[in-house]
Amino acid sequence: MSTIEIPAGLRELLQGYTVEVLRRRPPNLVEFAVQHFTQILESQRNQQRAKKRSNRPARKGVTFETKSDKPNKDDEEEEEEEEDAVKSTTGKYNRRVSVCAEAYNPDDDEDDDTEPRVVNPKTDEQRRRLQDACKDILLFKTLDQEQFSEVLDAMFEVLVKPQEHIIDQGDDGDNFYVIEKGVYDILVQKNGASICVGKYDNKGSFGELALMYNTPRAATIIATQEGALWGLDRATFHRLIVKNNAKKRKMYEAFIECVPLLKSLELSERMKIVDILGARAYKDGDRIITQTKAGQQDNTEVEVARCSRGQYFGELALVTNKPRAASVYAVGDTKCLVIDIQAFERLLGPCMDIMKRNISQYEDQLVALFGSSDDLKH
Ligand code: CMP
Repeated sequence: MSTIEIPAGLRELLQGYTVEVLRRRPPNLVEFAVQHFTQILESQRNQQRAKKRSNRPARKGVTFETKSDKPNKDDEEEEEEEEDAVKSTTGKYNRRVSVCAEAYNPDDDEDDDTEPRVVNPKTDEQRRRLQDACKDILLFKTLDQEQFSEVLDAMFEVLVKPQEHIIDQGDDGDNFYVIEKGVYDILVQKNGASICVGKYDNKGSFGELALMYNTPRAATIIATQEGALWGLDRATFHRLIVKNNAKKRKMYEAFIECVPLLKSLELSERMKIVDILGARAYKDGDRIITQTKAGQQDNTEVEVARCSRGQYFGELALVTNKPRAASVYAVGDTKCLVIDIQAFERLLGPCMDIMKRNISQYEDQLVALFGSSDDLKH
C-alpha cells in the first residue's frame, strides 16, 4: 500500500494558523494567511541569520583590551542583501525600526494586536529545555500563562561556538536571548578599548536593552565555549514584553515616585527602574534579608525599625558595598518590589554614584534603620 509522506512541520504550520484564526477571527482569511506565514518566514530568516553567525569562523584573538572587531564587509553586504529581501517580500509586518534614543511607546503601535503570532515548532524535549531556561527570567514574569506560552512558541534555538559574537555593540537589535547553557563574556567599549565588564555563567538573558529602548546594542556578547541560547524575535518581544512592561510602568509609576531614595533619579531613569522591578510575596516571619555583618555578641536580635508601604530596605549594602547590616523579616503576609542590582547597574551605570547623589539627606533615616553612620562614609 502506498503511503503519502507528510512533509515535516506541515501539521504544526497548519495547526498554528488555525489556532490563530480561531483566536483572532480575522475578516479575511487569505489576507490573514499571508500575514501569518510572512511572519513565520521572517522568523525563519532570523534563525538562519543567527545560524549563519554561528557558522562564521571564530574571531580569533579577542582580548579584553583590544578594539572590538566588526563583521567583515562581505558579511555585512550579505546581511544587508538578506534584509532587503525580507523587506521587499514581507511589507509592513517586517518594517525595520530605525535606531533612535527615544523609548518605544507600544501604545503608538496600532498593528500590534493584529500581528499574527510566530510559531517555531519544537519537540517536547526542546520545549522542556526551553521552559526550564525561561523559568527565572524577570522580563517574562509579568506575562500571563497564554502570553508566556506565545513567547515560548516564538522562541528558536541557537547553538553557538566558542568565540562567536552573539551581539556586537553598536548594532541594531534583532533578537532577545535566553541562555540555556554556556559562558558568555560581556564587553563594553571604553576609550576605544573593549573591556570585559562581566560574564553570564550558564543562566540569565541578554539583548533586551536595544529592543526595549530602541537604542544600539550597548555591549558585545561573546561565547567563550560551546553553548545553547533561545532567541526571541524583535516583533514578538515588542508585542508581548514591551507592551506588558508599559502596563507595569503605569501600575508602579506612582509608587516609585514616592520612594525617597529613588527621587534622585531622573523621570526617565525612574521609568526604567519599573522595567526591572519584580514582585515577591513573603509570609509572616519569612526572613527577607539576612544580616551578614556581626551585630551583638550574644546573637540576640532586637527590632530596630519597622517599614511599611512605600518604605524601602536593602539598599545600604549596595550603596556602601559592605555586608548586610541588619536582618529583615516579614510581619504578616507582605509583598515587596525587588530590584536586581546587576540589572540596575547595567541600566543606570554604577548604582553607588546614583544613590549617593542625595544620600546625605537620608543619612538619618538610614542610620535609624541600620545602625552605624560609619557605613555611610566611604
Ligand atoms: P543590548 O544593548 O540589547 O545588547 C547587549 C546586551 O548586553 C544588553 O542589551 C544587555 O542585555 C547586556 N549587558 C550586560 N551587561 C551590560 C552592561 N554593563 N552594559 C550594557 N549592556 C549589558
